[in-house]
Amino acid sequence: MDRFVKNFILMSIVYLAMAAVLGVLMIGYPELLRLKFVHSHLMLLGWVSMMIYGVGYHILPRFAGRLLKSTSMGELQFWLANIGLVGMLLFYTLMQYSTDAGIYKTLTVVFGVVEAFSILLFFYNITTTVFGKES
Ligand code: HEM
Repeated sequence: MDRFVKNFILMSIVYLAMAAVLGVLMIGYPELLRLKFVHSHLMLLGWVSMMIYGVGYHILPRFAGRLLKSTSMGELQFWLANIGLVGMLLFYTLMQYSTDAGIYKTLTVVFGVVEAFSILLFFYNITTTVFGKES
């Protein structure tokens, strides 16, 4: 199993634990419901998506009987997906608790774009692996 595949699975479980703790805290302290975006995206972009990336990078090329188009692109996607997610949620949180939120809003969007770019890398790597011409 490639190192970045293992790392996706590890981080997926880390985000699950973080999101579950925040979820329970949101029940106990309703003022934390303003971080619902953080909880839901730790769950969906962290736990769910990263588990799918990890399992997908390992399994889909094997189902297709091919090698993954680019391991280094998969490695890059791992870093961009994590930097994008952590940055987006960190600056979103700061935006929620700041009186002058302008810069935090901009940074939330910038890291959101990084996250979206990482999704495009996954899209390209998997579609060219599974649907590309046989070489
Ligand atoms: C320990 C397990 C979990 C706890 C304690 C928990 C708790 C919560 C709480 C308190 C809310 C806010 C509800 C409200 O608006 O009043 C919420 C929202 C949400 N949760 Fe969880 N949750 C858990 C697991 C999950 C999982 C596994 C997912 C998805 C994979 C998930 C996705 C979401 C989403 C998308 C929202 C936003 C819903 C909306 O905006 O209406 N949660 N969760």
